[in-house]
Amino acid sequence: MQPKMLVTEAADILGVTVQAIHKQLKTKKLPYSKLQNRVYFGYETAVQLFSDFKNSCKIFVFVLVKGGVGKSTLCREVAIRSTLMGKRVLILELDHQGNLTKSFGVNAKEYPVLIDLLEDDSIPISDSIVNVIPGLDIIPSRYDNSVLDNFIMLKSMPLQKVIKNRIEPIRKNYDLILIDCPPSLGQAVTSAVLCADEVILPTTPCDFSDSGIDTTVKEVRRMLNDFDASQVPMKIILNEYDNRERDSRETYADLIKHEKYGDMMFKFYIRECKEIEKYRRRKLSIFDSTSSTAGREDIDTLTRELLGMNEVATKGYASNRENHLSEVV
Ligand SMILES: Nc1ncnc2c1ncn2[C@@H]1O[C@H](COP(=O)(O)OP(=O)(O)O)[C@@H](O)[C@H]1O
Ligand SMILES: [Mg+2]
Repeated sequence: MQPKMLVTEAADILGVTVQAIHKQLKTKKLPYSKLQNRVYFGYETAVQLFSDFKNSCKIFVFVLVKGGVGKSTLCREVAIRSTLMGKRVLILELDHQGNLTKSFGVNAKEYPVLIDLLEDDSIPISDSIVNVIPGLDIIPSRYDNSVLDNFIMLKSMPLQKVIKNRIEPIRKNYDLILIDCPPSLGQAVTSAVLCADEVILPTTPCDFSDSGIDTTVKEVRRMLNDFDASQVPMKIILNEYDNRERDSRETYADLIKHEKYGDMMFKFYIRECKEIEKYRRRKLSIFDSTSSTAGREDIDTLTRELLGMNEVATKGYASNRENHLSEVV
């Protein structure tokens, strides 16, 4: 996997001209490549170019009781996109099916997973961290994690500490931690939710009563309230939107103006994009290609939103940055 940030995209994110980015690449001697007419770079260059945008580590937990809505997909592509903005990212996969783990070509049997860490306190969490691409690590998952809920319950483990205590010591190593949950709302998911700075609920166009949103929101809210964490925001993202489908248009319109959920909605959606699935099957990402696709654009928007980067180009930083970049040359 060799994810790519186009120079044109970086210019757009930073609110500067393409020429300004080219100047940076040349003066700082940063590595970049060219494919046809497109100039792009990877993590190493991104770290330098985006170095002004440091943030304290944020933890996003992807939850929805329904499967197949894009929890793992969004987690994966957002994580990859974030590395292209110079971020150090960790994914913690909790789904015992381990689809995300497999999609990075990681064999989870070679590493301790969460259940092993809980069963044996002496295993350091660092043993379970696998680097998959520059800037991106994963704590993998396999079927053994299917007993997490029972184990946590039988041992009466404190839910607010089970995952948090293990992540806290390594939090400083990352700018972003994403937790991919199984389609359930048990003890393990509760423990994950109690680590969150923000809970992300992906949903797809469908009959609302079958969306799982009601159940998930109610239950996550209860988890947060029970543990005095009611301030943690919950956000809904509509995935697999297709403008040609009435279902898509109606679901988005209904959710945006929904009395309970309207305020929780991201004001954009992730469009259906066949390339996402195509690249994943080849253990690649849509960012391996340099083509512009709906998935590429939309995942970029979501990533910028989660990282607070959407404001960079609009907050007056652009003109300062342009000056700054010219000064450097
Ligand atoms: N925006 C999208 N466009 C096209 N296919 C998508 C999109 N998001 C997810 N998918 C596909 O939908 C399927 C289910 O997604 P997944 O992320 O595994 O859901 P979950 O983790 O919620 O069970 C996968 O095959 C994935 O490739
Ligand atoms: Mg999944």
